[in-house]
Amino acid sequence: MRGFSTRAIHGNISLRDPKGSLRTPIYDSVAFEHASSDSLRLTFEGKKLAYAYSRIANPTVSDFEQRLQLISGGIGVLAVSSGMAAISNTILALAGAGSNIVTSKHLFGNTLSLLDKTLRPWGLEVRYVDTDDPEQVAGAIDAKTSAVFIESITNPQLDVPDCRKISEITAAHQVPLVVDNTLLTPYLFNCGEHGVNIEILSSTKYISGGATSVGGVIIEHGNFDWQQAPRLQERAAKQGQMALLAALRQEVYRNVGACLAPHNAYLQSLGLETMSLRIEKSCANTMALAAYLEKQSLVQGVNYPGLASSPYHDLAAQQFGGRFGGVLTFDLARREECFAFTDALQLVRRATNINDNKTLIIHPASTIFSEYPEVDKLAMGVRPNMLRLSVGIEDYEDLIDDLEEGFKAL
Ligand SMILES: Cc1ncc(COP(=O)(O)O)c(C=O)c1O
Repeated sequence: MRGFSTRAIHGNISLRDPKGSLRTPIYDSVAFEHASSDSLRLTFEGKKLAYAYSRIANPTVSDFEQRLQLISGGIGVLAVSSGMAAISNTILALAGAGSNIVTSKHLFGNTLSLLDKTLRPWGLEVRYVDTDDPEQVAGAIDAKTSAVFIESITNPQLDVPDCRKISEITAAHQVPLVVDNTLLTPYLFNCGEHGVNIEILSSTKYISGGATSVGGVIIEHGNFDWQQAPRLQERAAKQGQMALLAALRQEVYRNVGACLAPHNAYLQSLGLETMSLRIEKSCANTMALAAYLEKQSLVQGVNYPGLASSPYHDLAAQQFGGRFGGVLTFDLARREECFAFTDALQLVRRATNINDNKTLIIHPASTIFSEYPEVDKLAMGVRPNMLRLSVGIEDYEDLIDDLEEGFKAL
């Protein structure tokens, strides 16, 4: 098999553009004309692979999906309008009123809010466990469990769940394991090889490259028997391993309407081509900044799985092959110091995103998690004196110079 970067750059090399364009064009059209009524009928019935309407499928989006399939090892991919759309569509397809999802309170803030505030009132039970103790996952699963949902590195707590152990538990209970792999991407973490059934990505982050566009991806790894999923049993009898993606494309995703715009798919395919280079640089920069921050007397603690001081270091090294992503957090004395530090920075931008080419800083407790009371924030691992740094691909010496300005302001 060709290497990761080659697959990301060339996509499906046998699908050449009829006009010889080396870039897949942006098919910015809502509808696609057919030569006959019968052709439209067959397309609607799913018996002919053709395009009809861009909310359901679009050639530029398909090109992006194929590249993702080639680099992830999945058997099918659905690209959607955002990372949140990828998560919500997946849960809507798997779960329902009366069922439960087993997850952790250490998750991206909007994902917690989706589960707790948006889906719980519709009758979904959300069971929180400490994923550091996989036995808690086993204890929370019952006959009504529709999925176990975790992040491969949690944002912003930077916990690293043991995916192999958790997948052994979910496989034994015949419950699908859904993993949000946004902070690592398939370049750093091969979900399929670790027993993950459904991989979710916010392609807004590392994939888009330079934060050009919002997008999300759902990857089917083809290793779950959907006959075991109550909502998909009927489809599984006909569509086998493609039952979940079929339920999404022919029902949930089609009806919810969270489609990826063709222009954004184009930008994200472009970003994907340079992703491996950018990830290498951002991981190396993050290690350098983590080591620098650890030596600063005004820093109370640095949290990064790449540091030997992290309780997750050995597991992360083994699961992710020696690179640890581009996000770290560090604690100063109080929230006031966090604000003063952040406001003194010139190069590092105050913004809420991760894995941009630019280095970004944010105080999660007063922003992403501001909708929660203090006690809940602490349970979610979001301390009032914690800053999150998403490290870009600049020259790290310039980043350190800028952080020095932050310390001078304290
Ligand atoms: C781990 C994780 N998952 C999902 C999302 C949501 O992605 P999007 O902003 O593309 O909806 C984010 C956004 O920061 C994230 O960090």
